[in-house]
Amino acid sequence: MPMKTIITFGTYDLLHIGHVRLLQRAAKLGDKLIVGVSCSDLNLSKKGRAPVYTTQDRMDIISALACVDEVFVEKSLELKGDYIKQFGADVLVMGDDWEGRFDQFKDICEVVYLPRTQGISTTELIEEIADINPTPESHT
Ligand code: CTP
Repeated sequence: MPMKTIITFGTYDLLHIGHVRLLQRAAKLGDKLIVGVSCSDLNLSKKGRAPVYTTQDRMDIISALACVDEVFVEKSLELKGDYIKQFGADVLVMGDDWEGRFDQFKDICEVVYLPRTQGISTTELIEEIADINPTPESHT
């Protein structure tokens, strides 16, 4: 059987269990998993804030995962089709927060939306951490 290449994209800031589960499930759909890590400038324009970790650190963390074979920088949302072709991806995997948004690529590859892990996101983590106000007693 020919090798099946999977591609997925994301910010993966403050790596959490939702990210890991998404990548593990994506990897199981084929033989090779390639991850486009969106650069900090792209996130600033997309989400209105820069990631906590640098692009290079986020790429190094993602490439350290056993289920990931290759990482690259996603420089623009408009280039998804080009990346899919460049890496010869057979399947585009996205979390279902993007359901239907990438159906235009169905003419060049299979498009699969996987359910998100409930109850966790980078944004929620940042908010939870910001809400932790240590009382003066905690320093004594
Ligand atoms: N993801 C997931 N389950 C979660 C959070 C994210 O499956 N609980 C998936 C997303 O669907 C996406 C990938 O992980 O395919 C990267 O998501 P990203 O946007 O980087 O993470 P979020 O935690 O959603 O970040 P933010 O809160 O900044 O939007």
